[in-house]
Amino acid sequence: MSRKRYNFSAGPSVLPLEVKRWATDELTTHGTDGFSVMEISHRSARFHHILNSTKESLKRLLNIPDNYRILFMQGGASLQFSMIPYNFLDSSTVADYIITGYWSEKAATEAKRSGDVRLVFDGAADGFRRIPRNEEIKRSENASYLHFCSNETIHGVEFNYVPESRVPIICDASSNILSKKIDIAEYSLIYAGAQKNVGPSGVTLVIIEEALLERVKENLFSALDYRLFAANNSLLNTPNTWGIFVTGLVCRWLEEIGGLNVIEKENSEKSAMLYEVIDEDDDFYIGHANRDSRSRMNITFHLRNEDLLGRFLGEAEEHGLFGLSGHRSVGGVRASVYNAFPVDGVELLSDFMRTFRRENS
Ligand SMILES: Cc1ncc(COP(=O)(O)O)c(C=O)c1O
Repeated sequence: MSRKRYNFSAGPSVLPLEVKRWATDELTTHGTDGFSVMEISHRSARFHHILNSTKESLKRLLNIPDNYRILFMQGGASLQFSMIPYNFLDSSTVADYIITGYWSEKAATEAKRSGDVRLVFDGAADGFRRIPRNEEIKRSENASYLHFCSNETIHGVEFNYVPESRVPIICDASSNILSKKIDIAEYSLIYAGAQKNVGPSGVTLVIIEEALLERVKENLFSALDYRLFAANNSLLNTPNTWGIFVTGLVCRWLEEIGGLNVIEKENSEKSAMLYEVIDEDDDFYIGHANRDSRSRMNITFHLRNEDLLGRFLGEAEEHGLFGLSGHRSVGGVRASVYNAFPVDGVELLSDFMRTFRRENS
C-alpha cells in the first residue's frame, strides 16, 4: 500500500478533501442546468447566485460589517501591492509601511514607484525575526494609509495585534486570513491571494471599507480602480468564475466544521506541536522567529548543523512529508500548516523531527 503523502507547501497549498470532492461533483454532474460553472456566463443568474452566496458566507465567517464591500479580483496579492498606492497614495503626503519580512518589503518597493513611502519599522537588520511592539512603530503625522502584512509567509512571523493608527489601515493577510477571528472594523482594506486559506490561486479577496472607496483617486485605469470594481460587484470584466466557486466551497467547509473559533483552536494546537519539538533542544533545531512573533501558519526553523538539511528533507519525503524546504532567501525548513492541513500530518512531522534528532545528535 502506498504511504499517505502530506503537502506542507506554502501556497498554492492543501485544500480540504471535502472541497475537492464537491468541486469534482460539480464538474462531473454538470451543475443544475447541464453545464459546469466553468462553462457558464459570469453574467448568468446562476453565477450571480454563486458570487453572492460566497460573499454572504465570507460575511458570516468574518463577521464583516455592512459598510464593507467584498471583492474578488485577479493579479494576486502582488497586483494589490501596486493598486493600493495607485488608488490611495496622495501625492501631497506619504504612505507608511511596516516591514516585517519579504512580502511587506515587496509591497513597499512597489509603492515607492507611485509616491513617497516611509518605512515606519524595518526588521531587515535583524533578519526579519520579529514583529514590532505597537510603540516601536514611528507613524507619520498625516500618512495616506498604514500598510502591514499580518503574516510573513517566508520568515514565519505573525502579528497577534492590529497596529494602532489614526489613518486607514491596509493589511496583506494572504497567509493568515480565515485562520482566526479578526475584527474587520479595525481595517480599512484587507486583502489576500486566495491560494492558502481561501481557495485556489487566481482569485484575490479584497475587503474594503466604503469610506476608503470614497478616497479612490480620479481618472484611474478602469481595471485598476477599486471603486469601479465595487460598483460592478466584481464583474467589471470576466472574473475567475471557477476560483470564486471553489472559494465558496471552502467557506461552506469552514462553516460546516464550526467556523473560525474551531479552526483557530486547531491552528494554535497544530503550530504548538511543532514549536514544542523545536524548543525541546535548541542545540539541534533553531526556530527562525523570536518566540513572541511566531507564525501559526508557517513554522520556520534551521538545523544547527546545516549539513544535515539535505538528509532531513530527503528522509522527510521518504516518510510522506513534502514541501518542507525553506524559501531560498531564508533557507532551512518551513512547514506551512494552513487551515486544511490535517492534524495527523503535523503529528507525523513532529515524530519524524524527534526521531531525526535522536539519530543525528
Ligand atoms: C503574505 C504574502 N503576500 C503576498 C504574496 C504574493 O501573492 P501572489 O503570488 O498572489 O501575488 C504572497 C505569496 O505567497 C504572500 O504569502
